[in-house]
Amino acid sequence: MYHPSFNRRQYLKLVSAAPAAASAMQTTTDEDRVRRMKWWHEARFGMFIHWGLYSVLGRHEWAMEQEGIPVAEYEKLAARFKPKPAPAREWAALAKKAGMKYMVMTSKHHEGFCHFNTATTSYCAPKQAASRDLVKEYVDAARAEGLRVGFYYSLMDWHHPDGARCREDEQARRRFVDYIHTHVRELMTNYGKIDILWYDVAWPLSPEGWESVKMNQMVRKLQPDVIINNRSRVPEDFDTPEQRIQASQGRNWEACMTMNDSWGYHNADDAWKSPKQCLRNLITCSRQGGNYLLNIGPMADGSVPPESVRILSAVGAWLDKNGQAIYDTDPCQVGRSNYMSFTRKGNTLYAHVHFWPGSVVSIGGLKSKVLSAKLLASGAPVKFHQEEFRVQFTGLPAAAPDSPITTLAIECDGEPRQDMDNVRINRPRLKA
Ligand code: GLC
Repeated sequence: MYHPSFNRRQYLKLVSAAPAAASAMQTTTDEDRVRRMKWWHEARFGMFIHWGLYSVLGRHEWAMEQEGIPVAEYEKLAARFKPKPAPAREWAALAKKAGMKYMVMTSKHHEGFCHFNTATTSYCAPKQAASRDLVKEYVDAARAEGLRVGFYYSLMDWHHPDGARCREDEQARRRFVDYIHTHVRELMTNYGKIDILWYDVAWPLSPEGWESVKMNQMVRKLQPDVIINNRSRVPEDFDTPEQRIQASQGRNWEACMTMNDSWGYHNADDAWKSPKQCLRNLITCSRQGGNYLLNIGPMADGSVPPESVRILSAVGAWLDKNGQAIYDTDPCQVGRSNYMSFTRKGNTLYAHVHFWPGSVVSIGGLKSKVLSAKLLASGAPVKFHQEEFRVQFTGLPAAAPDSPITTLAIECDGEPRQDMDNVRINRPRLKA
C-alpha cells in the first residue's frame, strides 16, 4: 500500500500492468513504505531550497545551459560564491515560522557544483572560495529547528566531462555512474540520518544506465528510513508533479512549486504569488492527500529574498491558527465551491473561504448531517441551517474575520460527503 487511503487492490492494478518490470524495480516493501512515510504524510508542507553558483548570476538556475555559457567561464563563479556565516540557520528559522516541517536543499544542481565535501572533485564548496561544507551547515540548521532533512541531487551534470558522452561511450558511462554513486554514498554516509533523497533530471541515461536500482538499494542500506522520490527513473516512494498540483492515483505525491517563476535566485523575477495563493495550493494538496514543497531561491550570500520572507511569514501566521485543518488530514471528498476549498480530518470538514461572501456561507449538496460549526481561528461558534440540498452558515461578519483565508470547522455525523448530481437532478423545480 502506498498511502493508507488507497487500498491494496488499487495498487496491485497499478503495478500488474508490467509485473516483471515493477517488481524488478522494487527496493522496498509496501508495508515498510507505510511505516517510513507516516511523518511525511502528517507533515504536508516542506521548504525547497535552490542555491548554487547560479545564485551569483541571479538569472535562474538554468542560466549556464540556456545562455550557452562555456564550462571554463562558468566555473569561475566558484571564486565569487562566498556565503555569509550559516545562512541555513535563517532558512530553517523561516521554514519553522512558515509552518513547514521539512527541508530539501540542492546538494548539487545541474551545474555540477557540490555543496558537500567530496573525494571525487575539487568543484565543491569546501575546496573553493566558500571554504566549508554547506551541506553540513544546512543539516545542522534544520535539525536545530526540529525539521526533517532532505537532499536534492541532480543526476544530470553539465560540468562533468562524461556527463553527456556517457550516452554512447561505455567507458564514460562507467566513470560517470561511479562518480554519481560515490556522491550519493557520501551524502548518505557523512551527515547522519537523512529523511528524504530527492533526485532530479535523469538525462541522459535509462534506469539501467544509471544503475538506479543498485544505487537505491545502497541508499536504503545506509539510510533504512529514507524516503526516495521518483526521478531516478524508478518509481520508489513518491511522485513529484512540478509547478502543478496533480494527485497520483494509488501513489504518494508531493507538488513542488516556486514562489515566483524561478527556482534559483533571479534578481528581476517579480512574478510573486500571494500568501493566499500559496495557502490555496497547500489546501489543494492536503485535500487530496499530497504534500506541498514550496521553494526559496537564496541569493549568493545565502540571504532569502525579502518577498519570500514576507510571503512565508504570512503563510505561517495563518497556519499558526489554522494548522489543524492541514497537518495529518485525511483525503476529502467534498470539493465543489467557487469561493472556498475543503480539507477533512475524520468527521470534521474544514471549509476554507478565500473569497468571503458576506454574512452567509453556503455549501451545496452536503450529504452528511452537520452537528456543529465554529470559526477555526477564534473558536467562535457559528449558527447553521441545513436542508436537503444546502447548508447555510449564518450570522457571520460582513467582512472576512480571518486573513487571507477564513476557515470554518464543521463537525458532521460521519465522513463528510457531497453529492452535486443530487442537487442538479433532484432539487425540486417549479411546476410548468
Ligand atoms: C526541474 C528543473 C530544475 C528544478 C527542478 C525542481 O527539473 O530542471 O531546475 O530544480 O525541476 O523540481
